[in-house]
Amino acid sequence: MIQINAHYLKLKASYLFSEIAKRVEAYQQQHPDAPVIRLGIGDVTRALPDACIHAFHQAIDEMAEDRSFRGYGPEEGYAFLREAIAENDFKARGADIGADEIFVSDGAKCDTGNIQEIFDINTRIAIPDPVYPAYLDTNVMAGRTGAYHDGRYEGIVYLNGNAENGFIPDLPAEPVDLIYLCFPNNPTGATITKDQLKQWVDYAAANKAIILFDAAYEAFIRDDSLPHSIYEIDGARDVAIEFRSFSKTAGFTGTRCAYTVVPKSLMAYTATGEAHSVHGLWNRRHSTKFNGVSYPVQRAAEAVYSTAGKAQMQELVNYYMENAALIRKEMQALGHTLIGGENSPYIWVATGADSWSFFDMLLENAGVVCTPGAGFGTCGEGYIRISAFNSHENVTAAMSRIRQALKS
Ligand code: MLT
Repeated sequence: MIQINAHYLKLKASYLFSEIAKRVEAYQQQHPDAPVIRLGIGDVTRALPDACIHAFHQAIDEMAEDRSFRGYGPEEGYAFLREAIAENDFKARGADIGADEIFVSDGAKCDTGNIQEIFDINTRIAIPDPVYPAYLDTNVMAGRTGAYHDGRYEGIVYLNGNAENGFIPDLPAEPVDLIYLCFPNNPTGATITKDQLKQWVDYAAANKAIILFDAAYEAFIRDDSLPHSIYEIDGARDVAIEFRSFSKTAGFTGTRCAYTVVPKSLMAYTATGEAHSVHGLWNRRHSTKFNGVSYPVQRAAEAVYSTAGKAQMQELVNYYMENAALIRKEMQALGHTLIGGENSPYIWVATGADSWSFFDMLLENAGVVCTPGAGFGTCGEGYIRISAFNSHENVTAAMSRIRQALKS
């Protein structure tokens, strides 16, 4: 008799954003004429930058001719893209990362979800709460947790984020081996300073632990003193893996391109203490299970680093950040305390009410979709996340509808 992976039964029935999509669909079926404004999942709404579209078209034309056609590419990504990434995202910021330490992929969700495979099943995992749900769910699927009670899985060290610590968790009180961090944070929009991040790097070095640093939202940082990459911190090359994405910065949510940095100096150990290169393990995993991102998509991603591409990407980011400023202003004027939206496209708003009820109320009374904080963990209860990814017109309309709904 074929048996299932019983760890899947520990998961909540559906992934957070699928649950939201279901509720929105049910609402739309009941109210087919009520236009819904989506400020829930962080999905971009503006077209790809012209520079990317131009490069995309050119690459497709190359695929149309036998002489310039390309079949399988290198699994880890074409050198032209990896070199552009190393130069612009790291060397230009003083971070010592080489092109051969970069693995191009089709998404940071896939990479942050898959990376746990290369570590032992008994790895002690520290996960923030609230958190992007894919980090936790993929460890549950792998069998690293016990049962789920009261909103938490046995076997995970939760790092609490709350109003008191500004949603920057304290270092774990007990020893851990693998630590997930995301800054600028999804869902809270909180940011970490270089000094604060240095404490995590030092902790990891002292404990032979590894930090999985999700920097998918770094392009939204406005405050120049904040780190865009963990590799701006001394010693991070030996303790951290970093995840980046073109999804939010250059509008690639539907186009799919991201990358993961695994420095060659990063080590993990066998039970007897023998050191192995994590880069080698990830390379083995990536080349076995992945055949690379398509050539036209990689050419489109490369164009983000051209002079025109950089300016166009900045314009996209600025556009969404104007929405973020409006959302902050309006929600504050309605008396809500909040964080985020200054160096991040997410605004984390205290609701003073149960977060799923607040979500349902906004959907029902304003036709606006947000994300309930409880979907990101127990510490998210009492909050909602509002995403700045939409048009100015829709965000302005959403804020006016929320104002009406909350005042009535
Ligand atoms: C989010 O809304 O948290 C993200 O868009 C989801 C994702 O990137 O997978």
